[in-house]
Amino acid sequence: MPTPTSPIGVFDSGIGGLSVLQALREVLPGERFVYLADSGNAPYGERGDAFVQARSARITDWMRSQHDVKALVIACNTATAAAIDGLRDGNTGLPIIGVEPALKPAALHSKTHKVGVIATQGTVSSHRFAALQAANSAHTQFVVQACAGLARAIEDSTRPSIPASQNATQITALCAQYTSAMGRFGSEPGQIDTLVLGCTHYVFAADTLRSLVGPEVTLVDTGTPVARRTYSLLHATGMLRKQDVEAGAAALEACQLFTTGDVSALRHAAEQWLGLPATCASSAIIA
Ligand code: DGL
Repeated sequence: MPTPTSPIGVFDSGIGGLSVLQALREVLPGERFVYLADSGNAPYGERGDAFVQARSARITDWMRSQHDVKALVIACNTATAAAIDGLRDGNTGLPIIGVEPALKPAALHSKTHKVGVIATQGTVSSHRFAALQAANSAHTQFVVQACAGLARAIEDSTRPSIPASQNATQITALCAQYTSAMGRFGSEPGQIDTLVLGCTHYVFAADTLRSLVGPEVTLVDTGTPVARRTYSLLHATGMLRKQDVEAGAAALEACQLFTTGDVSALRHAAEQWLGLPATCASSAIIA
């Protein structure tokens, strides 16, 4: 049975969910985290619901049986869309927090009432996304773009075997292709002034996207709101770990990262993006 000192489980199809882990560590500095990158099976966005549901269920079992997690964060929009209902039904008593494209905050923020959304094909074709869009469309026009290949290219950017320059060129080309297909960006009437990053991988291409859409456009992601929601749920159930003066240092040692793919890629991402030591990343076999 989990206790307040048990870790929080976090998973994604790959390294994209590290953007959510980063926010979780900031909002919950005294907690321990177990992160699973299912990079051996990424990208989820082009796999279909049945596959993503099966992987999500298997990973949740692993998180519970191997790490006795006290809460689970699905740091993947695609897996949330396909699997969160089933995971909640099958794991009553375990708080499960998902991520969804931030349409509501973006609609509230937009002054042109025109919001761009980029996400995977799996997310944009899901029922959850359709409902989210319908609920927020009263005063806002959403321009939705599925970005095939972009999560994969970002995933590959952490693999030492692929030259960094070749990879950066590919990420830039994909971002340019998709943003130009969406129309004009800017703060004038009729232009898209807010861009929702509806895939956790895309946070790691934010600089490239920013250079393409211009400085007047606001980029919106969901890491911090999800971290705050996790805090609230743990607080409400008395499951927050007791904070102490060593909490920050303890948490630094208390991130365990696992991957079903290339461990050197996860180590690279952990060092580069989160400032974690490479030694915190290991391989996991989750068949
Ligand atoms: N990072 C995931 C998301 O937020 C999915 C990327 C993928 O595997 O296609 O949707």
